Amino acid sequence: MGLLDDIDEVLIPEAALQARIRELGQAVSRDYDGKDPLLVGILIGAFVFLSDLLRHISIPCGVDFMATSSYGAATESSGIVRILKDLDQSIEGRHVLIVDDIIDTGLTMDYLLETLRARYPASLRVCALLDKVPRRRRHVRIDYRGFEIPDKFVVGYGLDYSGLYRNLPFICVLKPEVYRS
Ligand code: IMP
Ligand code: MG
Repeated sequence: MGLLDDIDEVLIPEAALQARIRELGQAVSRDYDGKDPLLVGILIGAFVFLSDLLRHISIPCGVDFMATSSYGAATESSGIVRILKDLDQSIEGRHVLIVDDIIDTGLTMDYLLETLRARYPASLRVCALLDKVPRRRRHVRIDYRGFEIPDKFVVGYGLDYSGLYRNLPFICVLKPEVYRS
């Protein structure tokens, strides 16, 4: 059995992802022209999105990463966020754009915004590929948003279930039996 056998439904095909990410890259390039922004990718989920987004950005920019984890069941965010890896550099006076795969409850991003705001960046904005609106528990302003999706657990394009499926080039939903095994 291959990975493809576990897929129930493709929500966002590869071509649609790439077209939208090109638009986001163009918007970021326009808005941050002359500002030398720092893109902060949230590991692990955002690394695929960030690497594609980056190649559609045509202005000078830096890249750094943070890793977070939230305790709880595999498909639920607990609200307790831990920083597993911090930035390698100071963001004081920098124009920071946080890049994440998905905003679900908003608890992770809310915590990250509060944490990074305390380090005096010149500006702080959010770019998220996916927005699961019905699940929001904290209001988070998403400055650059790829797609709104329904309340379904999704994988692919960097997003995982139990560490797997990140390598699928599209966003999809898994068959129910995958979660039972
Ligand atoms: P939040 O704190 O609930 O907004 O979600 C934080 C993190 O949970 C996201 O950055 C993802 O890494 C993960 N996550 C949330 N929803 C999904 C999903 O549908 N599939 C895979 N990971 C998800
Ligand atoms: Mg994440």
